[in-house]
Amino acid sequence: MSNLNTERVLEVRHHTDRLFSFKTTRDPAFRFVNGQFTMIGLEVEGRPLLRAYSMVSSNYEDNLEFFSIKVANGPLTSRLQNIQVGDPILIGRKPVGTLVQDALLPGKVLYLCGTGTGLAPFLSVVKDPDVYDRFETIVLVHGTRFISEQAYDGFITDTLPNDELIGDLARAKLKHYPTVTREPFVHNGRITSLLDSGKLQADLGLGPLNRDTDRVMICGSPAFLKDMVEMLEGRGFEEGAISGPGHFVVEKAFVEK
Ligand code: A2P
Repeated sequence: MSNLNTERVLEVRHHTDRLFSFKTTRDPAFRFVNGQFTMIGLEVEGRPLLRAYSMVSSNYEDNLEFFSIKVANGPLTSRLQNIQVGDPILIGRKPVGTLVQDALLPGKVLYLCGTGTGLAPFLSVVKDPDVYDRFETIVLVHGTRFISEQAYDGFITDTLPNDELIGDLARAKLKHYPTVTREPFVHNGRITSLLDSGKLQADLGLGPLNRDTDRVMICGSPAFLKDMVEMLEGRGFEEGAISGPGHFVVEKAFVEK
């Protein structure tokens, strides 16, 4: 298992019967770019059982944090949801991923759009001082079915603005847009419709989507990604990569079947 570190669970938080988060120790030699993911998991019957997880923690933090769905019959998450403080956990040493700022052309407004646990990589990004240097405005959009699934709402609205390192930047430049589809909330509707109609932008005092100024990072279910990409491409946005930066980047949230 030379490509894996064994870390220890430091904290577990259950948000709902479908969602939980946990923190682990971090090998100081484990380096990543904010927005990336790595393989993590447990040893089951003598073998590593791994799934891809985005880091919620930023790359300057001492510990690692992850945000997970619970799938009753999921080979990994049915076990992972029972982890306790002190338990060992396997963390892949090679982080990867496309949700990185170097894959985007310079712009003014950065939209970070996540559904469900697709929020995870963007929590790492909004803690990154660099993103506030690159963009005038950062819009963090989180779409869920229910209010209880807005799991990091308190972190975004209370903790982050008071953070010693990021607080001033976040208060000046970060706009939070939580939206829920299956019960009344401050914002309702799918991210795709809200962006396409311009309602989301209007609610925040921003203009309609514009590929000259706007950049978009997307993470969520395959259906959400497909519809977002279609909508953006219809407006002339092009997908970026580090080898050729563009107007948007995409990653699927790695939901266990
Ligand atoms: P909806 O409730 O209308 O299905 P899930 O938990 O299924 O991944 O959904 C998370 C959020 O993403 C929900 O608000 C859901 O809305 C929304 N969603 C699901 N599919 C799409 C899609 N194709 N385009 C935009 N939003 C979507």
